[in-house]
Amino acid sequence: MKNINILAIETSCDETSVAIVQNGKKVLSNIVSTQIETHKKFGGVVPEIASRKHIESIMQVLTESLEQSKLSLNDINAICVTQGPGLIGSLLVGVNVGKTLSYLLNKPLIATHHIAGHIYSCNIDNEIKYPSIALVVSGGHTELIYIQDELDFKIIGATQDDAVGEAYDKVARQLDLEYPGGPKVDELSNIGENTYILPKAMINSDDFNFSFSGIKSAVINLVHNSKQKKEEIVKENLANSFQTTVVDILELKSRKAIEKFNVKQFLLVGGVAGNSLLRKRLLEMAKQLNIEILIPKMSYCSDNAAMIGAAGYLYYKNKIFTNPLTLNAKSTLNIENIKKATML
Ligand code: KG4
Ligand code: ZN
Repeated sequence: MKNINILAIETSCDETSVAIVQNGKKVLSNIVSTQIETHKKFGGVVPEIASRKHIESIMQVLTESLEQSKLSLNDINAICVTQGPGLIGSLLVGVNVGKTLSYLLNKPLIATHHIAGHIYSCNIDNEIKYPSIALVVSGGHTELIYIQDELDFKIIGATQDDAVGEAYDKVARQLDLEYPGGPKVDELSNIGENTYILPKAMINSDDFNFSFSGIKSAVINLVHNSKQKKEEIVKENLANSFQTTVVDILELKSRKAIEKFNVKQFLLVGGVAGNSLLRKRLLEMAKQLNIEILIPKMSYCSDNAAMIGAAGYLYYKNKIFTNPLTLNAKSTLNIENIKKATML
């Protein structure tokens, strides 16, 4: 069978990435240029600066990716780009490069959903079986998604307010840790103890939804009150208490979902899937429940174009193409009707 080489572009937030992926599996190159150093000074991603940085780096990243893959543009079968969800100015950079390449090279264009990318990051080194459930945890998303079949998603639960990564980043600021705070809180937590009692919202509800704004505010209030009283916060203990509480909630809801739906696999994906305690606890949970668990390697957890190429290959197989003249980026984008959304 002929190899299908997909050139994938990801610019939805603060990583500029281009990958070449063969048959949705073989990553020939995956160049990621992160803007962390730039945004660190501001304590978070500044959208206007993010868009400018994408414009500055995209051609270099594209050139390096092609060089590393040892392929030429003629060997590429399709161009695939993250259409959304994400920061609109950032998405537009990737979308315009994708549209231009597709039009000039006369190759089909695929508009990928960013979360479908995170989910299919599991397909690179493993094979997703259907039906399965994915816990998507990132800076912008916290969702439990039922995957009925290839590219057939149903959101069964979602955060009602903050995403878990967002809560991590805000808590990190309270603890004077640099952006992105998630990995720093994770590290600090490993030398602390669970001594602060923090709220667990929505754990008794019958649904699979989450809420993390309450725990975030509780941490902010705790730090604020102790400053006023001139008391010292034990930072590593607060980090540990926050991390343990968040992981308790994520595990509990995941467990409920696995028990309710009869699925073959459980997938843990997104930037926060890099969290050491979450990985450990969900691996233990899967063992107890006797369900196969897939967690991508670290470099495929945070934003990267290889995962977009892995998902894009399935769009290609299902002939879900888009029009290079009319495609637009979308800051919000529905994941539930991918198979119906042809030629947007
Ligand atoms: O998926 P991602 O790279 O970007 C989005 O699509 O949002 O996720 C980034 C998020 C950030 O909030 C970052 O702090 C968080 O993932 N994160 C972590 C860890 N590594 C990254 N949160 C907790 N523990 C980690 N080890
Ligand atoms: Zn992401």
